[in-house]
Amino acid sequence: MRLQDKVAIVTGAASGIGRATARLFAREGARLVLSDLDQPGLDKVLAEVGSEKGRGVVGDISKEETARRLAQEAVAAFGRIDVLINDAGIHFLKDITDMTEDEWDRLMNINLKSMFLCCKHVIPHMLRQKKGAIVNLASISSFVGQEMDGASTFAYNITKAGALQLTKSLATRYAADGIRVNCVCPGGIETNILKRATSEEVAEFWRMSASGHPMGRNGQPEEIAQAILFLASDDASFVTGCPLLVDGGYLSR
Ligand SMILES: NC(=O)c1ccc[n+]([C@@H]2O[C@H](COP(=O)([O-])OP(=O)(O)OC[C@H]3O[C@@H](n4cnc5c(N)ncnc54)[C@H](O)[C@@H]3O)[C@@H](O)[C@H]2O)c1
Repeated sequence: MRLQDKVAIVTGAASGIGRATARLFAREGARLVLSDLDQPGLDKVLAEVGSEKGRGVVGDISKEETARRLAQEAVAAFGRIDVLINDAGIHFLKDITDMTEDEWDRLMNINLKSMFLCCKHVIPHMLRQKKGAIVNLASISSFVGQEMDGASTFAYNITKAGALQLTKSLATRYAADGIRVNCVCPGGIETNILKRATSEEVAEFWRMSASGHPMGRNGQPEEIAQAILFLASDDASFVTGCPLLVDGGYLSR
């Protein structure tokens, strides 16, 4: 029960890493405010967590109104905010020469602006408590250039490099206030993040991805949730500004 009596916000909680994190946090005793665009998916996770332990906020996390509602709901329902997990995100693959301004804006807003907005609305509560833990979803993509099918994921990688820098900047700014800010950097994790045409293409992508990891396989969302739990819990009381690699050795090659 490493999160007994803690109140945690998890964005992107309807699927993948966010869903695995919400489930694990519930087992570890946390009370949860979960958010996603996908209402049916969120309702399923909330049903597992139980109404006395979980609340849901449906909305686009790239909008300030959603971030504000999330913080308000946590305080109204449970009186405090101990943990913020900035997980919601989308993948994007397109070369810079083909990318439109709208595509760039959408990706930056969902993957990076959302983190800024959630931190903005949660940190004042953590400052009052003189304690809090924030975990951002960065990536192996924070560190390297990557291509898929010959096209670049450069813009996605920029959002993940931004998540890493946001982590470091907030970590040093708020360290003396009792707020720890860390990020996890997953390798390829088999979730729904690749919104692709056919199941064959998705399967082929994950086969190729597995071979890029020295362990010879992709990760599972539950393996990332365990790393997030460590950073969110008091077990990591002297850890801040840390990019925790959970990548099957990918970046050690
Ligand atoms: N899967 C991987 O290989 C991998 C690797 C490194 C980092 N990550 C990061 O982990 C995080 C979670 O990804 P995942 O793999 O679990 O993907 P996923 O697609 O399974 O889950 C992402 C969730 O975010 C939600 N979401 C997307 N846009 C939203 C918006 N505008 N407002 C609210 N919710 C929104 C989706 O509805 C979905 O439930 C992302 O930030 C991703 O970049 C994933």
